[in-house]
Amino acid sequence: MNLPYSTNSTNVLKTPSQTAIATACTLLQQGELVAIATETVYGLAGDATNDTACQKIYTTKGRPSNNPLIVHVPNLAMAQEIGVFSDTALLLANTYWAGALTLVVPLRTDSDCISIAPTVTAGLNTVAIRIPARDSTRELLTQFGKPIAAPSANPSGRLSPTTADHVMVGLGGKIPLILDDGACTVGVESTIVDTTQSPPVILRAGGITVDCLNTTLSQNLSTARPDNIAPKSAGMLTHHYAPTLPIRMNVTAPNDNELVLGFGNMGGHINLSPTGDLAQSACSLFDALHQLDSWNATHGTAYTGIAVAPIPNTGLGVAINDRLTRATAPKTP
Ligand code: TXA
Ligand code: MG
Repeated sequence: MNLPYSTNSTNVLKTPSQTAIATACTLLQQGELVAIATETVYGLAGDATNDTACQKIYTTKGRPSNNPLIVHVPNLAMAQEIGVFSDTALLLANTYWAGALTLVVPLRTDSDCISIAPTVTAGLNTVAIRIPARDSTRELLTQFGKPIAAPSANPSGRLSPTTADHVMVGLGGKIPLILDDGACTVGVESTIVDTTQSPPVILRAGGITVDCLNTTLSQNLSTARPDNIAPKSAGMLTHHYAPTLPIRMNVTAPNDNELVLGFGNMGGHINLSPTGDLAQSACSLFDALHQLDSWNATHGTAYTGIAVAPIPNTGLGVAINDRLTRATAPKTP
C-alpha cells in the first residue's frame, strides 16, 4: 500500500477521512503508534494486544512502567471480551458510553477472551476500559477490529493535548502519524471509576461529573485519596499536567509578575469562560495553560508564574480544580 506519509517525520492527516483512517490502521497493524483525537484529550494509540507496541507507548512518553494504560474499544461487546462487567459496571457503561467515563473492571484471562498485552495493565489483574465518543476514532476502532491502548498523547508529566498542534509540540518527531480531528470538546480526561470495589470508587475526577454518577447509581460515591490509590494506579500520584511556570490557585489579587488565568468576571490574560460556564472552562483549560506556558516566548515578556482565579468546585469544576491542583503539586521523581 502506498501510504500518504513520509517515513522520517511526524505526519498530520486531517480526519474524518477514509485515507487517514486506513493509514492509521496500517500503522497500528505494524505495531506503530498513532495520535488520535477523543472527545476528552488526544491519545497516543497502539495495538493493545501487541506488547512491543505498548512498550513503545511507555518509552515514547517517558512514562513509568507501573502506570497502566486505558484500553479503548468500539463497543460494549468487545469490552466484555476483555473484562468482567458487574451489574453496576454494566449500568455505568450503558448510561455513559460512548463518553468520558473509564471503568476499571477485573481482567479476563479465560481462553475465550481478547488477550491484552501485559504491559497495558502494568501487571494488575484489572483493566481500565472506555468507548470514546469521537466518530472518527470509533470508526478507526471498528476498522482496526482490535482494542487500542491510549494514554494522553503528551510526554509524561506534561500537559495533556487537546489539539493536534499540542501533540506535535510534545511528541513531534517521535511518532509517525497524528490524526487531526480538531479540538477536543470535553477538554479534561475521562472520569475513572473502579468497579472492582463495592461500592465503586472514583479514582480520577473527569468529564463525567460525580453528581451524574451518584444519580445513576443512587448513592454517593467516594473519591480515592491519591495515597490510597497506589500501587493500583501509581501514575495518579505523580506531578501531572504541569506547565513549566509555577501555578497559584484561588487567587483574587495576582502579583504584577504573574500571568492571570481568569474565570467569570475576573478577566485575566486568558479567561476560561467570561460567563462562568464550567463546561466551556474544562474545554479551554489545557489550551489556556499551553498558551500561558509559552506566553513569555511568544510575547517577549518575563512573567514568573501563573495565577488562577477561583473556580467553583462543583460539577466539572471538580475535574478542573483537580488538574490545577496536580499542576501545583511538588514534582516527584
Ligand atoms: O480521557 C482519557 O482518559 C484519555 C483519553 C486518551 O482516553 N486517556 C488518559 O490516559 O487520560 P492516561 O494514561 O493519561 O491516564 C490513565 C489513568 C492513569 O492514571 C492510570 O494509572 C489509570 O488510568 N489506570 C489505568 N489502568 C488502571 C487500572 N487497572 N486500575 C486503576 N487505574 C488505572
Ligand atoms: Mg495522562
